[in-house]
Amino acid sequence: MKTGVIGAGTMGAAIAALFANAGYDVVLVDVNDDALEKARKRHEGEDLEQIEQAGLKRRDEIISKIKYTTNLEDVGDCDFIVEAIPEKLDLKIKVMKKIESLVSDDCVLATNTSSFKPSEVAAGLKKPERLVLFHFSNPPILMKIVEIAGDFASEDAIGKAIEVARKIGKEPVLLKKECRGHIFNRFLGVAGVAGAWELMHARPEEIDAALKALGSPYGFFELLDLIGIDVVIDVLNSFKESYGRKFEPPKGMAFFLERMLEWNKLGKKSGEGFYKWVEGKAMIPDARPYDITPIISAVVNEAFLELEEGIADKETINEAYKLATGSPLGVFEVAEMLGYNTILELLERLYRERGAEIYKPAEKLREASKN
Ligand code: NAI
Repeated sequence: MKTGVIGAGTMGAAIAALFANAGYDVVLVDVNDDALEKARKRHEGEDLEQIEQAGLKRRDEIISKIKYTTNLEDVGDCDFIVEAIPEKLDLKIKVMKKIESLVSDDCVLATNTSSFKPSEVAAGLKKPERLVLFHFSNPPILMKIVEIAGDFASEDAIGKAIEVARKIGKEPVLLKKECRGHIFNRFLGVAGVAGAWELMHARPEEIDAALKALGSPYGFFELLDLIGIDVVIDVLNSFKESYGRKFEPPKGMAFFLERMLEWNKLGKKSGEGFYKWVEGKAMIPDARPYDITPIISAVVNEAFLELEEGIADKETINEAYKLATGSPLGVFEVAEMLGYNTILELLERLYRERGAEIYKPAEKLREASKN
């Protein structure tokens, strides 16, 4: 099978490395020569190291399997193409439409969109059923998850996506129903807003220390830096369109994020975000862990809302959380440790005091707290 990856940034470069490592030929397309050059350098250094860390092996083959190009027409004979271009729906629709005009009828198109539904990205296609969600979590080489979804995707498209995910060493997580943000980015969105509320009382490194103490390999603000503040803002804007004010951070934080964008403090990719980044590592000051129960409670609540909406069953949501965070516990296991009653009482209080919708208790959480 020949694969294509569109966009050679944070995600696309890593996805191309994973495809090449699995033995696929890869056409990696970007509109920007510098992005391709940067991707090639990553493939010779940082990405190779991560691939080795993940226990995958083909050191020598990676670069030789990838064609780096600015010409989109080079994907013409690909069988499976993932887009990882910026999180702008119009752009994604336009590029997918163009790709469809270049490829065979059997070619499956996949989107790594963080927030949009796959059917929205497929809006301009003649054969929308050929498009499927294929969503990685950051860092994509190390995190095991690929979320797969598509209310209108054909069995063939879903089947090929599952096959490719397994071949590159990932665990495919199949959603029953598509939604903006899928399973995991809704958690991140809620944690982002809840984290912003806690920043009124704590420093990022104190919140991150608490998360790491729970077994997560990354702190929350460290993860936002890895994702990129520009991408975070795009995702929050997309959520706002779909979920209303729920994902609006408190005013001070929204202002702060906009300034970070203006000052090019985008996180790892620009060398500074919440933290300074040196040689690929966040310089996080030592700190005492802060009590992050309010953030975790908001995430647990979102997990119950996903259950209510039929996005996935409990086991799948639990598994997605573990695979996307590298944490040994699933979100419902964390909830059981804290106690559903404790979570419900805390959320009720925070909803009363702060009025933020992320704290509004889900019906299914109320039910669970009665048992
Ligand atoms: P990025 O900004 O690092 O890279 C995007 C790349 O696309 C850039 O190199 C840009 O030059 C290129 N590009 C722009 N227009 C193009 C076009 N028409 N054709 C080909 N290339 C084009 O963005 P990043 O972070 O890699 O995100 C890409 C997608 O993946 C977004 O949809 C994002 O929401 C999603 N995603 C991002 C994650 C993250 O942690 N950053 C995690 C999972 C998904």
